[in-house]
Amino acid sequence: MKELIEGFSKQIEKGIEIFSNNLPREVQKKYTNVVVSGLGGSGIGGTIIRDLSSTFSTVPVIVNKEYSIPAFVGPETLFIASSYSGDTEETIAATELAIQKKAHIICITSGGKIAQMAKANNLDLLLIPGGSPPRANLGYSLTQLILIFSATGLLPSQSRSELSAMIPFLEKNEKSIREKAYSIAQQLFRKRVIIYSDANHEGVSIRFRQQLNENSKMLCWHHVVPEMNHNELVGWTEKSDDFAVVFIRNNSDYSRNQFRMDINKGIVADYASTIVEIWGEGANEIEKTFYIIHLVDWISFFLAELKGVDIMDIKVIDFLKKKLSEIN
Ligand code: PA5
Repeated sequence: MKELIEGFSKQIEKGIEIFSNNLPREVQKKYTNVVVSGLGGSGIGGTIIRDLSSTFSTVPVIVNKEYSIPAFVGPETLFIASSYSGDTEETIAATELAIQKKAHIICITSGGKIAQMAKANNLDLLLIPGGSPPRANLGYSLTQLILIFSATGLLPSQSRSELSAMIPFLEKNEKSIREKAYSIAQQLFRKRVIIYSDANHEGVSIRFRQQLNENSKMLCWHHVVPEMNHNELVGWTEKSDDFAVVFIRNNSDYSRNQFRMDINKGIVADYASTIVEIWGEGANEIEKTFYIIHLVDWISFFLAELKGVDIMDIKVIDFLKKKLSEIN
């Protein structure tokens, strides 16, 4: 896993090549809605691209983590099927339905049934390298999503050059990101982690939660501002040394939400023993987003080391998938 996290910026570079060599058709078409369908390590890119495009896209972008698809899917829909293995049953079922609805489909996968379906149905196929854990391939899948969105006018056209410019930015900051990640991991070690961010950056909060679940074998939860100010905040009534609260912040967060987070920090500090702030760094939203992803990936790595757990192990997910495959 260490090499895979180290290779994050290389994935972006190779991801740009993959997209350029397999340009999807009909990218100039104007879609009336977009659905990104995928689960876990292959679904998180969908949530992040929804956040990144939210202030630019004039059509709705829906993230689908289900067997079924929204009723509005039709010939004017851009449907992106994202499954690293290509064998995730929910994504296969959703893609079959999108084919029936005649949506324009682009598949992002390393192979499996999704690749077979793409070939059999003449769908656009962006093949990414296989053979490693899905969650360690976000550099590839998120790059494909950004390039698709940029080509279809769902993100500004300069997103493509921002993506390329981000590679040296990440490489330049690699050492400091790792040092910061180690220091934060030490603060979160043996704690119950609670992650808060602006609603428009929920994707990176979910990424952090998923990486702590899968890499560091920890339970944790996340919520977003302003919604958590209307419910969860009231739940902070018990003081405990176990709680560590991480605020993921960006100077582009909605201004009232920045005030809210300052106030929230003061409130939860009365109950939680550890408060950490993670600020997105970079010249634009893409850089800030990838910076946070890389930082939280390293935090999950160092926490796995501190805890002495096997970062690669996801036996329980494999067990569940096997059990399900035995049921017709
Ligand atoms: O990290 C994992 O292995 C999971 O979260 C998978 O990404 C999830 O089960 C979906 O599988 P796939 O990414 O192959 O579609």
